[in-house]
Amino acid sequence: MLRTLLLLLGFLLTASLAVAEESQEAKGTHGVVATVHPIASRIALDILKDGGNAIDAAVGAGLALGVVDGFNSGIGGGCFLLIHKADGETVALDGRETAPAAAHRDMFLRDGVADPDLSRKGPLAVGVPGALAAYEWVLGHHGSKSIAEVIRPSAKVAREGFTLGADYVRRLKSAEAKLREFPGAAAIFLNDGHALEVGDQLVQKDLAATYDGIAQHGIDHFYKGPIAQAVARWMKERGGLLTESDFASYAPIPRVPIRTTYRGYEILGFPPPSSGGVHVAQILNILETFDITRLSAADRTHVIAEAMKLAFADRTHWLGDPGFAKVPRGLIDKAYAVKLAGKISLEKASPVPSHGLPPKADEEWFGKHTTHFCVADGQGNWVACTQTVNTTYGSGIVVPGTGVVLNNEMDDFAAQPGKPNAFGLLGADANAVAPGKRPLSSMSPTIVLQDGRPVFSVGAAGGPTIITQALQAVVRRLDFKRPLAECLGQARIHHQWQPDRLLVEESLDADIQRALRAKGHQLRPSKGIGVSQAMARHPDGSLGAQSDPRIEGSALGY
Ligand code: GLY
Repeated sequence: MLRTLLLLLGFLLTASLAVAEESQEAKGTHGVVATVHPIASRIALDILKDGGNAIDAAVGAGLALGVVDGFNSGIGGGCFLLIHKADGETVALDGRETAPAAAHRDMFLRDGVADPDLSRKGPLAVGVPGALAAYEWVLGHHGSKSIAEVIRPSAKVAREGFTLGADYVRRLKSAEAKLREFPGAAAIFLNDGHALEVGDQLVQKDLAATYDGIAQHGIDHFYKGPIAQAVARWMKERGGLLTESDFASYAPIPRVPIRTTYRGYEILGFPPPSSGGVHVAQILNILETFDITRLSAADRTHVIAEAMKLAFADRTHWLGDPGFAKVPRGLIDKAYAVKLAGKISLEKASPVPSHGLPPKADEEWFGKHTTHFCVADGQGNWVACTQTVNTTYGSGIVVPGTGVVLNNEMDDFAAQPGKPNAFGLLGADANAVAPGKRPLSSMSPTIVLQDGRPVFSVGAAGGPTIITQALQAVVRRLDFKRPLAECLGQARIHHQWQPDRLLVEESLDADIQRALRAKGHQLRPSKGIGVSQAMARHPDGSLGAQSDPRIEGSALGY
């Protein structure tokens, strides 16, 4: 016991704490919310106070983020919603974009070689958006309010404008050149060809009109009405593939959540086409074979990095849309984890030449793209939602008159085996482009249950680091019982097998970094890895929510 306490104390002293002192966990008994933006959190909290449940509030937050954080997500993109309801029902709703009907395997090849410009910006980069259809589905099945009720507050913000903060402007500046290429986007986000500045007001009248249209006519306004028509017309004139029929036939897909156990807790994750649930579960299964609270901080960090590497090697080979590729369920088999754990040496970083064979059973900031938010209400409904337009401002396209930033999610397919996407991720046949297929994602909304009730939830933004951020937060919470601010604030690492390098936040303790180098890891220091949001239920029954201390996010409760 004393030894455990001393080890824990050692961990606390050696692990670098990047937690901002002022970072406060929001508390409440009636409801909590955490998002990356105060306006989105406020809108969600107001919906809860107005009698809405966590599903209503989550949709309100998602729609608000499309206005105030539109470079990360919006109705021109997609989302995964993971819900645990007070009655014990679990919902995993896939609102991922789909490839248009005219998409084909080699559509991003030019002279036989993948051209990343084609999959990352402009007309071919865009998948059929899914977020709005998913919002309506969850409201209809599990909410208590209509889309009109939850969209109106965000329409107002779009119409009246909001003041730009430093996070927004930093991201806007990083996408300035791309936005300049698309007059519809430039007219909204640039001023004389240059990014708006901190303190400027961003007014989005076209987006407000689109939200108003949805409030008035329902989501058909988007999928079967003027928005689909305008986008299809624009695409046709510019060689894009999206048609009105692609929009009209979009449907979100209810899926079965990934479930695993970790040290007595039950972990719910998002299934394919997300790789998140599978690999968070797989890495936890590997870590469970180690007594990680007894390892030194350096050994523990090393083991976690090695487990990440093994999981990402599997991701590259096996993962894709389950409607098109057979994703082996054995990837989350405990026996397979034991086998993989056997490949980890405590002494040195081991090469992982290729993927494993699971048993058959049935930028400098390394991308903060995407956004995660979470809401819980006093009745016991929990929602964890990650949504995205992929990289900053997606494809860069805003079709004039719509105000909607269109995603570049087609880049999440493997354009060509062996060619990395925007996140350096490789893919295989399982994630090749095909009509109607959903590109593989890393989005990892996660809910942890104890005795059948949620006690912790986390999710993140930042490409493949989403998986490893969620994983590290779960370990900090479940193994080390850390407060939410530390679960998110402590220095992070990330390994994705290829490229073979270990990303570490610069704030990671220097001794740990030295020890990792000595074991053979190629370290790549990073100012920051991603952005996470989390929630918890405390032993006294109260709720807590936390936004990532790395950003000017917002957690609220009442
Ligand atoms: N577009 C990032 C992801 O879905 O993983």
